[in-house]
Amino acid sequence: MKKPFPVPDSIRANVKEDLSPMLGEIKDPQMRDYVVEAWAASLFLNGFTAVHELQGSGALDVLVQKNASQAAHLCGTAKISKGIGEALLAMYPALPIDIDLLVAGGLLHDVGKPPEYNKDNRRRWMEKPYLVGNPPVSHALYGYYICMALELPLELACIPGVHCTEGELHGIQRSIAATIVHYADWMYWDCMKVLGELDASFPYADVILAPYQNKTNYEENFLKGIRLSE
Ligand SMILES: [Fe+2]
Repeated sequence: MKKPFPVPDSIRANVKEDLSPMLGEIKDPQMRDYVVEAWAASLFLNGFTAVHELQGSGALDVLVQKNASQAAHLCGTAKISKGIGEALLAMYPALPIDIDLLVAGGLLHDVGKPPEYNKDNRRRWMEKPYLVGNPPVSHALYGYYICMALELPLELACIPGVHCTEGELHGIQRSIAATIVHYADWMYWDCMKVLGELDASFPYADVILAPYQNKTNYEENFLKGIRLSE
């Protein structure tokens, strides 16, 4: 693993604390380091010092969970991913499913969110969307960039890279870990919606996340929600 950015140790310590509920469930210490380093780098490069500073939402001011930070979503997605993997292994022990990779991937899948959650960035992009786009790239692609900048293993880097709709586009076939984390991510938000855990005062809090139903309307509403929130 490379450490190309001058990230202070205090940010690493904050990441460890925020993700501690699930980080400790990763058996391989190197896999734990990958998660901590990637999150610390992404936070540092985008003006944050801890995961809990990021709103607990699907996107900035969209699908906002009550009384929870982004750390809860990451730990929840990691926990659900682990559960899916363990259930499949209980049925078919010979399947090539790596639980450490699922937990690490669940914690890392949204590592590309910090630029989108930086309100100065959002304002800058809104001013000249013709120049750099708004946002310039998806958080999935930014997450993949962070992983590759640190030279993380491809089996881990691909999880943030294709966890959203990217995985259904351009002839991409997701890995088994990326497939499980993708569904765990959507499942988390779907369950929060059904359980009434989303804050209705934010736009499109009632958009039901059904990636394979009415996708066009969902994506339109999602983008409108982001723009209205500025
Ligand atoms: Fe997510």
